[in-house]
Amino acid sequence: MKIAIDGPAGAGKSTIAKKAAKELGFIYVDTGAMYRAMAVHMLRSRVDAGDEAGIENACGSADISIAYEDGAQHVYLNGDDVTGLLRTEAVGDMASRVSQVQKVRDRLVALQQKLASEQSVVMDGRDIGTVVLPDAELKIYLTASAHVRAMRRYLELKEKGTDPLPDPEAIEADIQERDFRDMNREHSPLRQAEDAYLLDSSELTIDEVAGRILALAKERTEA
Ligand code: DC
Repeated sequence: MKIAIDGPAGAGKSTIAKKAAKELGFIYVDTGAMYRAMAVHMLRSRVDAGDEAGIENACGSADISIAYEDGAQHVYLNGDDVTGLLRTEAVGDMASRVSQVQKVRDRLVALQQKLASEQSVVMDGRDIGTVVLPDAELKIYLTASAHVRAMRRYLELKEKGTDPLPDPEAIEADIQERDFRDMNREHSPLRQAEDAYLLDSSELTIDEVAGRILALAKERTEA
């Protein structure tokens, strides 16, 4: 069975997808982490974020693979476990840029499709329901208002003791800029698949969202 969860940054996709995968005994595939690993490769290769030809060239020398250790996804870049390097703003920003390049997408989509052909998955990203797994049995489009997403990110950074702590307005502006790039890029822009179920998590808890997805998954398996 394949469950696709798409939506903008900060909507809670990874938390929810991880939880749903655990309950169902499926593998969780975080496709954003693959674009982030590709971004680490570009930063290491000193390719400029705006240099599309340079990104196309350098992506050929990135060997990205996924392994599961105690159920958690680890991403390898040319044999190096880069999982711990992926969640910084600099890598996120570069990932948003490398993900605009079709050659990068072709390589990573092939890897994602291979993983889903080998086991039952909950996969999250931006183009899972539309491009990667168009035949997924269940598609969710998970969103929340930019304001709510910014506040969640702010509290997460505060909890981590981030210093200096960016103010919520700056985070919201950054989220809006990233949404715009993800939704308006030429290749595989973020959009809701026609057969996707729309879930707005602005006013819902993690458990409520996960509960709805699990109920839908149950319906589909019994259908
Ligand atoms: O979900 P995330 O923030 O880890 O994703 C990082 C970037 O990768 C984000 O800007 C969008 C891009 N991405 C994509 O284009 N397609 C995917 N399936 C997953 C992520």
